Amino acid sequence: MGVVSLDVLRQMSLMATVLVMTATKVVAWCENKPYDMAGKETVTQIHFYFHDIVGAKNATGVRVAEAPSTNQSATSFGALVIVDDALTEGPELTSKLVGRAQGLYGYVSLEEPVLLMALSYYFIDENFNGSTLTTLTRNPFPDTYREFPIIGGTGLFRYARGVVEAKSHSFNATNGDGIVEYNVTVIHYCSPEMLKNNWGAHATT
Ligand SMILES: *[C@@H]1O[C@H](CO)[C@@H](O)[C@H](O)[C@H]1NC(C)=O
Ligand SMILES: *[C@@H]1O[C@H](CO)[C@@H](O)[C@H](O)[C@H]1NC(C)=O
Ligand SMILES: *[C@@H]1O[C@H](CO)[C@@H](O)[C@H](O)[C@H]1NC(C)=O
Ligand SMILES: *[C@@H]1O[C@H](CO)[C@@H](O)[C@H](O)[C@H]1NC(C)=O
Ligand SMILES: *[C@@H]1O[C@H](CO)[C@@H](O)[C@H](O)[C@H]1NC(C)=O
Repeated sequence: MGVVSLDVLRQMSLMATVLVMTATKVVAWCENKPYDMAGKETVTQIHFYFHDIVGAKNATGVRVAEAPSTNQSATSFGALVIVDDALTEGPELTSKLVGRAQGLYGYVSLEEPVLLMALSYYFIDENFNGSTLTTLTRNPFPDTYREFPIIGGTGLFRYARGVVEAKSHSFNATNGDGIVEYNVTVIHYCSPEMLKNNWGAHATT
């Protein structure tokens, strides 16, 4: 997973960052509030692939409900799906697992193929282990590019806001399986400097 952090006040010094921490340390390190942290915003960019496997026996997305009219709808209007989808470093499902997208999506448009997705992205890789980001978003999934708002986060991503740029990597029209490339840009308040200056003694780097 590619990670780039930059202090908004010193945007000229773009630096590659590798953060190593446990969930417990993140909580201790991030007890800062945005109103105490003027000018200390950090921008982090994260890249991964989202695997929505709905067609296989070992599916990670299952349809749990639908309306009586859903079968007659060209847009599956009224269907609801619960997912625990893998997030991987590369486009192959066998590449390094960096987290899971857990939540649900429903088919919400009468006219077009559109989802409403309520998902928590739970990271388990060494960079963001235990931290989460949340999106609540409209997703017109046949479009090549989509944008999802990040409406919050936990751990390293407390008080997060940001945007996901999403692009379909592949879609199997026969079984509905899809792989989506994610570029996440997230603004938060737990910077590498804070780790070094305030909690460096606890870092495991
Ligand atoms: C499902 O199992 C098959 C066979 O073991 C494997 O090739 C495939 O990657 C698995 N898919 C998921 C989503 O775990
Ligand atoms: C819709 O179609 C599926 C697959 O044919 C079927 O399993 C399901 O019972 C149908 N649902 C309704 C509400 O008719
Ligand atoms: C993530 O944290 C858990 C405990 O909170 C730990 O068991 C696991 O080894 C950590 N994973 C990585 C990749 O650091
Ligand atoms: C993500 O960013 C990379 C590098 O800028 C770019 O090549 C790729 O097309 C982007 N993907 C998405 C989904 O925005
Ligand atoms: C698409 O899904 C069908 C049905 O599960 C499967 O037979 C086929 O191999 C899949 N195509 C690709 C490119 O994975």
